[in-house]
Amino acid sequence: MNIQIINGPNLNLLGVREKSIYGDASFESYLEQLVARYPDVTISYYQSNVEGEIINKLHEVGFSFDGIVINAGAYTHTSVAIGDAIAGINTPVVEVHISNVYKREEFRHSSMLAKNCKGVIAGFGMDSYRLAIESLL
Ligand code: DQA
Repeated sequence: MNIQIINGPNLNLLGVREKSIYGDASFESYLEQLVARYPDVTISYYQSNVEGEIINKLHEVGFSFDGIVINAGAYTHTSVAIGDAIAGINTPVVEVHISNVYKREEFRHSSMLAKNCKGVIAGFGMDSYRLAIESLL
């Protein structure tokens, strides 16, 4: 089974950025645990701060992989283009958020992606990614 994790803008700063919201672990260290936990799953990881690059990655894997886990960061709330890219591919996509976006500012309560996703997982810290993988297995 091939699963692609895609992280969007500012998520390269996990472990450094706003630790009270996002925790103090880097994504790379969390990813090591995730990969070790699912030896039968090939987990690929891609991060970009650039909207078009995220779209290109969705197109690249979206007709061959078994699942995509995406945390599009702030693009979640603004990007019609990423929402359209998810609608246009065949691979099921799970939207994730580290923080509980519904407890935060109102602009974080809406998602341009969710209606084209299999489901949404938010608020479980880094464990949101594991829960998303579980939902795809
Ligand atoms: C986030 C929530 C977004 O609102 C924010 O812009 C992020 C991270 C999360 O994982 O909680 O960058 O997607």
